[in-house]
Amino acid sequence: MKPRPQADQEEVDYFPTTPRKDQSIRWLVKLVTFLVVFMAGVVLGLSVSAHYTRHYNSRTELFFPRATYAGNCDKESLSIKRFVQPTCSMHGMSDDELFWRATVVPIMAEYPFERVPKVAFLFMTKGPLPFVPLWDRFFKGHRGLYSIYVHTLPDYKLSVPETSAFYGRQIPSQEVSWGSITLLDAEKRLLANALLDFSNERFVLLSESCIPVYSFPTVYEYLVNSAHSFVDSYDKDIQQARGRYNWRMSPKIKLSQWRKGSEWFELNRGLAIDIVAEHTYYSLFRKYCKPSCYPDEHYIPTYLNMFHGSLNANRSVTWVDWSRGGSHPARYGAANITVEFIQSIRNNGTSCMYNSRSTSVCFLFARKFAPSALAPLLNVSSTVMGF
Ligand SMILES: *[C@@H]1O[C@H](CO)[C@@H](O)[C@H](O)[C@H]1NC(C)=O
Ligand SMILES: *[C@@H]1O[C@H](CO)[C@@H](O)[C@H](O)[C@H]1NC(C)=O
Ligand SMILES: *[C@@H]1O[C@H](CO)[C@@H](O)[C@H](O)[C@H]1NC(C)=O
Ligand SMILES: *[C@@H]1O[C@H](CO)[C@@H](O)[C@H](O)[C@H]1NC(C)=O
Repeated sequence: MKPRPQADQEEVDYFPTTPRKDQSIRWLVKLVTFLVVFMAGVVLGLSVSAHYTRHYNSRTELFFPRATYAGNCDKESLSIKRFVQPTCSMHGMSDDELFWRATVVPIMAEYPFERVPKVAFLFMTKGPLPFVPLWDRFFKGHRGLYSIYVHTLPDYKLSVPETSAFYGRQIPSQEVSWGSITLLDAEKRLLANALLDFSNERFVLLSESCIPVYSFPTVYEYLVNSAHSFVDSYDKDIQQARGRYNWRMSPKIKLSQWRKGSEWFELNRGLAIDIVAEHTYYSLFRKYCKPSCYPDEHYIPTYLNMFHGSLNANRSVTWVDWSRGGSHPARYGAANITVEFIQSIRNNGTSCMYNSRSTSVCFLFARKFAPSALAPLLNVSSTVMGF
C-alpha cells in the first residue's frame, strides 16, 4: 500500500526544516519533528487500515451507502402515508426522475389503506389565477376528494391566502413556449406530479381562464364513475387537422391514425401513467410536429386513438366558443355574464353520450373568461351553478 502523499506533504509544509542557530530552538524543532513523524505514522497506519476495510466493504458500500442509513430514522420517514400521499408539492426531482417515479405501478390489487379516489385539478398558467375565489367556493367542504397542482412560469410565485385550496400547490415548473413541445412537457409534468399521490384517479387539465359550471359533487361523480376519459379527438380533411400530419412520422404513425383535439383533457389514472411513460411516439412529435403543427393539439388524441380508442369518449368536458371563427375562441368578460348564459353552457338543449346513455350534461367546465367576469360569476354561482 502506498502512503497518501498529499497528507504528508501538507504536514511537512507546516513545519519547514530550515536549520536554526539557537540550540534550544533546534532541540524544540527536533522534538516537534519527532512528534510530527510519530503522528504521521499513526495517521498513515489508520488510513491504511481504513483503506483495507473500505476495500473489503466496497461492494456493500456501493449498493447500501452508509450515509443513507445514518441520521434521523423516525417512523415517519418510511411511512406508507408519506409514500402514497406526498404532502408537499415541491421537490428536487428532475423530469426524468419524476416521470420514472410517477409511473411506478403497484402489482397487488388491494391497497393497504382506504383509498378514496380523488380528482386531480391540473392548472396550467403563466402566472395569476384570477378565478381562485370561484374555485375555492367550488372546492369548499370537499377536502379529501380532490387535489390541486399549479404549473406557472418558473419564477412566478402564486399568491393566495393560506385558507385557499390553492395554497402551496405550485409544482416545480419550467419555461413553456406556447405551441411548442414544451407545452406538452408541462402537461406531462403536471400529470406526473399528480400521479405521485396514489389516490388521484382522474386528471383534468385547466387554464387560468377556465371556470366550473357544475357543483363539485356533480363533477366528482361524473368523472369518477365514467367508463371513458374525455379527450377531444377527431379527423378532418382540413389544413388545421390532417394538414399538420408529417409523412416522416410514418410508418409508426399513419395518416389514418392522426387525430386532432382540444388540449384540455380529462384522463383516468391508467392513461395518465401511459402518457407520462410513453417515449416512442413522443419523440416523433418532438422531431416532426413543429409550428404550424402543435403537439398539444395532436399528441394525446393521436396516441389514444392508436392504443386506447375504446377508453375515450372522444369529446371534451370543457366548453369553448369557436362560433366566431378565427384562431382564438371567444372570451367572456363581466358584461357577458348572465344566469341565462351560464345555464346555456350547462345545458343548451343538445345531448351527448355518458356510459353508453344519453345525457344533457355534456360540459363540466368552460373557457375562456376574462378576470373581469369574476365578480358577476360569484354573484350567480349559487343561483345557477349550485355552489
Ligand atoms: C372513440 O373513438 C374510438 C376510435 O379512436 C372508438 O373506438 C371509440 O368507440 C369511440 N368512443 C366512443 C365512446 O364512442
Ligand atoms: C360580451 O359583451 C360585450 C358587450 O355587450 C359584447 O360586445 C361582446 O360581443 C360580448 N362577447 C361575447 C363573447 O359574447
Ligand atoms: C350546443 O353546444 C354544442 C357544443 O358547443 C354545439 O355544437 C351546439 O350547436 C349547441 N346547440 C345549441 C342549440 O346552441
Ligand atoms: C349581482 O346580482 C344582482 C341582482 O341579481 C345585481 O343587482 C348586481 O348588480 C350583481 N352584481 C354584480 C357584481 O354583478
